[in-house]
Amino acid sequence: MSTLIFATNNQHKVDEIRSVIGSSFDIITLKEAGIDIDIPEPHDTLEANAAEKSQTIHRLTNQDCFSEDTGLEVEALQGEPGVKSARYAGDGRDFQQNIDKLLQKLGSNPDRKARFRTVISLILDHKEYQFEGICTGKIAEDQQGNKGFGYDPVFIPDGATKSFAEMSLEEKNQYSHRQKAVTRLIEFLRNTRS
Ligand code: IMP
Repeated sequence: MSTLIFATNNQHKVDEIRSVIGSSFDIITLKEAGIDIDIPEPHDTLEANAAEKSQTIHRLTNQDCFSEDTGLEVEALQGEPGVKSARYAGDGRDFQQNIDKLLQKLGSNPDRKARFRTVISLILDHKEYQFEGICTGKIAEDQQGNKGFGYDPVFIPDGATKSFAEMSLEEKNQYSHRQKAVTRLIEFLRNTRS
């Protein structure tokens, strides 16, 4: 079985990715690898931040690893919060304050189109590869549900009538940006490793 370090401290992301990746690959979190680090996200693209995270962990461990960076891109806000999604309302990375800022900026604007975009950066045998996953949808007028994390309570994916925060993990996986990116990662690993 291949072992990969997942360069994140976000337990929600670990749970989501483990639920998709199955038993063919062993995912180890930073904590499980004994690494205590708050990896910087200094760049202005998801691609560059994802690469920074995986390269940081690769430098520290010299092992195969991957990271992911995700942004919520809202059409009427010219792609905001985008790469700044985690710190939209400030460095506290507070989910509720981020949602409040988003709903306040959108106001009653009828154009509520948005998408989540995930970029995974994999380092395998010292080489980097990237995989993208996109989920289109809209921003709800109000918060709905209390599952999940981040902007889940205000994001309704296309084809659904409820928000991500009203869905089980399995339901969210049917639509999710992260699930799509991970599926591409798994396909690549299967092809490379077989
Ligand atoms: P990062 O990839 O950890 O920088 O994520 C940026 C921010 O996007 C997170 O802090 C969350 O607020 C938000 N985010 C990322 N993925 C999701 C998701 O699947 N649902 C809701 N919010 C998300």
